[in-house]
Amino acid sequence: MKKNMNTGWLVAGAAAAGAVCCSLVRKKKEKDRDYSGYGKTVLITGASSGIGMEFADVFASNGFDVVLTARSEEKLKSIARDIEFNYPVNADVIPADLSTAEGVDILYNTVKQRGIRIDQLVNNAGTGVFGSTVDVDTDKLSELIQLNITSVTLLCRLFGADMKQRHEGRILNVASLGAFMPDPYFNVYGPSKAYELYLTEAMSGELRSSGVSMSVLCPGPVRTGLAKKLGKAESRFALTPREVAEAGFRGMQSGELIIIPNWKFHLLKDVICHLPVRCRIAFIRAWQEHLLANGPDDIFRN
Ligand SMILES: NC(=O)c1ccc[n+]([C@@H]2O[C@H](COP(=O)([O-])OP(=O)(O)OC[C@H]3O[C@@H](n4cnc5c(N)ncnc54)[C@H](OP(=O)(O)O)[C@@H]3O)[C@@H](O)[C@H]2O)c1
Repeated sequence: MKKNMNTGWLVAGAAAAGAVCCSLVRKKKEKDRDYSGYGKTVLITGASSGIGMEFADVFASNGFDVVLTARSEEKLKSIARDIEFNYPVNADVIPADLSTAEGVDILYNTVKQRGIRIDQLVNNAGTGVFGSTVDVDTDKLSELIQLNITSVTLLCRLFGADMKQRHEGRILNVASLGAFMPDPYFNVYGPSKAYELYLTEAMSGELRSSGVSMSVLCPGPVRTGLAKKLGKAESRFALTPREVAEAGFRGMQSGELIIIPNWKFHLLKDVICHLPVRCRIAFIRAWQEHLLANGPDDIFRN
């Protein structure tokens, strides 16, 4: 048992050193790369706030036309106005509730009716519910599964098929570092992100020779207010949504399959994944309890 643990730490240390070196080499290469998106259009879900809003700005600043979707129409319109003011690109808005099957239909059909060709898709919209799986409201769980799993799958299916026909395209699914580890108190959020990770990996195998590239972004905590909304304290290791969107954009354009922004999160993932499963669960449970204890008072509001 002790020998296994030592080997685990050695492997984790080597993996961390490898991750730091790869990230330095990648950064150097990226400096010279051109990610110009002139003439191309990206569809971004969950573009009304947080990481999605930053994705919209990063894509537009690289010359992409953008199609923005979320439920908050007014917020989307204001973001689209700012983008068209700041960059020589078009910004379209399609409001849709992706926690319903009709929402996915509305989005896909509106894109078709407007004659827009989607060259790249960022499945960023997502939500979480905090609390033990046996306590949280069942409607909220179903909504989460519909948004984080069903809609992501259907959008990959619909836009992926169009891209396959044209022999080009890129899809980025925004998962989480939680995809790699058990996450007590985060009920089906972690498993839904693990699903996104495996879906992306499976589709990248299927589409390997079709010219369509699949990527999945797995950030650790991000300073978007999501943690506070869920009743937790913001982690002090949290990245800014801009850092995450930029890392996602670069990774996606260079065809990376799994994108983990920041070497610290690579290290965390490698260390945690080499712990025995019960230690993993205990470690993350303790961390979540720490964040809960330091979060806003109105926790466990299901
Ligand atoms: N923040 C983190 O610490 C963190 C860490 C790892 C991964 N992530 C992932 O990153 C992604 C973005 O999260 P964020 O932190 O930027 O959160 P956020 O600021 O709360 O943004 C979520 C976005 O999703 C949209 N959305 C929510 N429910 C929707 C629905 N039913 N239909 C359509 N759109 C909906 C929201 O817009 P409307 O409310 O206007 O619909 C908003 O634009 C999520 O997939 C999340 O799981 C976040």
